[in-house]
Amino acid sequence: MQDTVAIHTEHLSKRYGRTEVIAPLSLTVASGIVFGYLGPNGAGKTTTIRMLSGVLPPSSGTGTVAGASLSDPEAVKARIGYANQAASVYGDLTVEENVRFKAALYLRPRDVGPAVNATLERLGLARWRAHKAAQLSGGWRQRLCIGTAVVHEPRVLFLDEPTAGLDPVARRDLWDVIYDLTASGTTVFVTTHYMDEAERCQELALLADGHLLAQGTPQQLRAQLPGVRYALRTPHLAETLHAARALDGVTGAWIIGDEVRVVADDARTATVLARLGELREVTPSLEDVFVAYAGPTRSEVRA
Ligand SMILES: Nc1ncnc2c1ncn2[C@@H]1O[C@H](COP(=O)(O)OP(=O)(O)O)[C@@H](O)[C@H]1O
Ligand SMILES: [Mg+2]
Repeated sequence: MQDTVAIHTEHLSKRYGRTEVIAPLSLTVASGIVFGYLGPNGAGKTTTIRMLSGVLPPSSGTGTVAGASLSDPEAVKARIGYANQAASVYGDLTVEENVRFKAALYLRPRDVGPAVNATLERLGLARWRAHKAAQLSGGWRQRLCIGTAVVHEPRVLFLDEPTAGLDPVARRDLWDVIYDLTASGTTVFVTTHYMDEAERCQELALLADGHLLAQGTPQQLRAQLPGVRYALRTPHLAETLHAARALDGVTGAWIIGDEVRVVADDARTATVLARLGELREVTPSLEDVFVAYAGPTRSEVRA
């Protein structure tokens, strides 16, 4: 029987010299889900993934990934897959050779052929098998990268910004691949900057400056956000923006399209705001959540 927990860490940290890049991190990720790991550049996402993959020794703390202890990095590596934009696709090898090369590292010789074929089929790569990887478009190269990471059927797959730089259609195709993988029981731990992709994750963790700030489903994170959000429709955007910003109880205001969006401490501001235009309450987006935790002001939720 497969564990119900794919990843569990206790006080896992990373220091370089005196700089603490990951503050003691205690994280639990359920099996078989898409888990989104969000944070601004430099937050420590890649460092976390490298520790959880058994390639970077933690400075302190313990953890279990796919049932293997982080104190046994080779066991972890055999049970996980790891793909990032730069990783392990050789341009002058064919698609098939790339997958075969990776399979040979982890599988018994007689299992390599069937695993390579199954992976090429599963990821829709079969028709490109004889093409050099360098000839593939960005989206297909990224698919190949995932193929090389899953050929040994890892229980946990780490994807570090898998869709960075891809066009919207290629991004959507790649998410189909991700869902197919979880449907067959793989846990996918993915980092992304795209908020529409964060919405697609079953659970999220938010990291900034090496600190875990929040964890939950997209709905929970939205619901936990303090304050109330409004949209004000008005023909006088700039004036309304300044008027809203000047009000007591308003913590932020900005223009989106033909509306002014306002964040207020509580619903008491609504009466005054309603005098400025046509007012309606809006539910926070994940972008609101992300900005509130990790944005430049962070005043809403961080001390
Ligand atoms: N080998 C290293 N030595 C010193 N600092 C590092 C090293 N690797 C990463 N860092 C620092 O750790 C922080 C987190 O980096 P990283 O994990 O790559 O963040 P992210 O992936 O979220 O952009 C950054 O401030 C980075 O400069
Ligand atoms: Mg990174």
